[in-house]
Parts: sequence; C-alpha cells; structure tokens
Amino acid sequence: MVLKEELTIISQKEIAPRIFEMVLAGEMVQDMGVGQFLHLRVPDPSKLLRRPISISEIDKEHGQATIVYRVEREGTAILSTLRAGDTVDVMGPQGNGFDLSVVEAGNTALLIGGGIGVPPLVETAKQLHAKGVIVTSVIGFAEKNAVILEEKLRQYGDVHVTTDDGSYGIKGYVSTVVDRFDQVADAIYACGAPGMLKYVDKKFENHPHAYLSMEARMACGMGACYACVVHLRDASEAANKRVCEDGPVFETGSVIL
Ligand SMILES: Cc1cc2nc3c(=O)[nH]c(=O)nc-3n(C[C@H](O)[C@H](O)[C@H](O)COP(=O)(O)OP(=O)(O)OC[C@H]3O[C@@H](n4cnc5c(N)ncnc54)[C@H](O)[C@@H]3O)c2cc1C
Ligand code: FES
Repeated sequence: MVLKEELTIISQKEIAPRIFEMVLAGEMVQDMGVGQFLHLRVPDPSKLLRRPISISEIDKEHGQATIVYRVEREGTAILSTLRAGDTVDVMGPQGNGFDLSVVEAGNTALLIGGGIGVPPLVETAKQLHAKGVIVTSVIGFAEKNAVILEEKLRQYGDVHVTTDDGSYGIKGYVSTVVDRFDQVADAIYACGAPGMLKYVDKKFENHPHAYLSMEARMACGMGACYACVVHLRDASEAANKRVCEDGPVFETGSVIL
C-alpha cells in the first residue's frame, strides 16, 4: 500500500563527495520492503515532481529507514540542505522490491552494485544474511572517493570493490570480478547504471532467480501516467511495464535494456 506521510529527518550526513545518507522516521517504515523506493517531495514550489530514492536500510524496531542519494541537480541539492528535525513529504513505499523468498539458509546470493545503485543492496544483504544465505557483494565505482557502503556490506558477507581507474580495490568494472567466479550463485540481485545492468542481464539471462533493479524518469510514481515504461522482450505479454508500479525490479531476460 502506498502511503503519504511527513517523515522526520533523524540525521543527514555527507558520506562521500556529493553523496548523502539521510535517516528518516515515521509510521511508513513498518510497511517498507527490501528493494522498494520512496518518492520524496522537494520542499520548493517550483519542483513539482517528486524524486525517487531507493530504501537502503530498514529498522522496523526503531521505526527508521535510511536512504543514500547523490546530489545531481537542484532537487537533490535542496534535499541535501535539510537537517535533523526537519520533515520530508514522502509517498511510499513504492515498487515491487527484491524477491528474497527464492533462497533459503545455506544457499548463495550474489549482489552486484554500481555507484549510486549500491544503497538498496545493503538491506538486501542484511535480510539475506539473517536468513542464513551466504552473501557475496561485488560493487563498482568510478574512483576511490566515490566508494560507499563497503563496510556496511562487509557485515553480511564477502565484498569485492572495483574502481574504473584502479584507485581503490580491483581495477576495472564489476564484470572483472564476476567473470572470475567459478560457481553461479543461487540468486543474483543487481542495481546500477544501464551499462552494468546490461552486462548482468546478458550474463545471467537464463538464470531462474536473477533480478535487476532499474531506473526510469518518473512523474506520478504510482502507475497512472505511464511516464516510466520499459518494454518487454516477450511481445506475447502486454508490451509495456511501468518501472514505478511493476518494477523497479525485473527478472533478467525479461526487459529490453
Ligand atoms: C526507482 C529509482 C530509485 C532510485 N534510487 C536512487 C538512490 O537510491 N540514490 C540516488 O542517488 N538516486 C536514485 N535514483 C535517481 C534519483 O531519482 C535522481 O538522481 C534524482 O531524481 C535527481 O533529481 P535532481 O532534482 O537532482 O535532478 P534533475 O535532473 O533536476 O531532476 C529533474 C527530474 O528528472 C528526474 N530524474 C533525474 N535523474 C533521474 C534518474 N537517474 N532516475 C529517475 N529520475 C530522474 C527527477 O526525479 C526529476 O523529476 C533513483 C531513481 C529511481 C527511478
Ligand atoms: S511514473 Fe507514472 S506510471 Fe510510473
């Protein structure tokens, strides 16, 4: 169920250049699921469209959730000026999220994240680890300064970090590491830039439990306007799916990237 609520900012800090971690509190947290996103209203009357940001961590016990976002242009820049005690108008939780029911204790899961696509993988890793699933994360960034959430992910399993320029971790893209693995994990969860998703989609095209979390420009964010459609490969099904409502998570091999 999509709710609308003024969430209270518990804290906000810059964890890397232009990348902010915001902790929010409110009733809505009890409904949040792994891989879903929030639609945040920018507190500026000229910004009519909400900004979609993934849920990075969920703490139902304390009624708090964490988002991690990069300042791109004006909307996210304004969000980054908010402080503890301020409120944000949020619609959510939205989207289908990652399906963790396909794995059980003793199974393996491979999490693949690129840049600002890494945040939703933290809660994914946490919940998989809690189920007894063996988690390996491969996360890629442009350079050392952009590396985020490595230590959080390490709490739940092995983490391999790549940087495009080799300034930290292994030089190359996530594929440099993933292509070296001998065993295929029981489930794959990926979130990142289109190029990275294309690689994961192709490599795990026929995997029964491989999932991509996708981005699209959104307007309503609740399935009504069709601003966010992606096209399915299988034309025998309804040809379009809405990223906000039917996604943002899709099985590999299902969507035209
Ligand atoms: C499902 C989903 C989850 C996301 N999760 C995160 C996250 O966890 N962390 C993070 O940093 N970013 C995330 N994004 C991208 C984030 O929504 C954009 O970076 C942000 O909306 C840019 O706003 P702006 O005002 O700074 O930029 P502007 O370019 O000024 O925004 C103008 C309009 O374009 C839209 N827009 C711009 N870039 C994107 C984009 N990449 N994807 C979708 N809409 C965009 C904005 O929402 C706004 O409506 C996510 C996007 C989607 C669709
Ligand atoms: S943004 Fe309106 S249908 Fe997805």
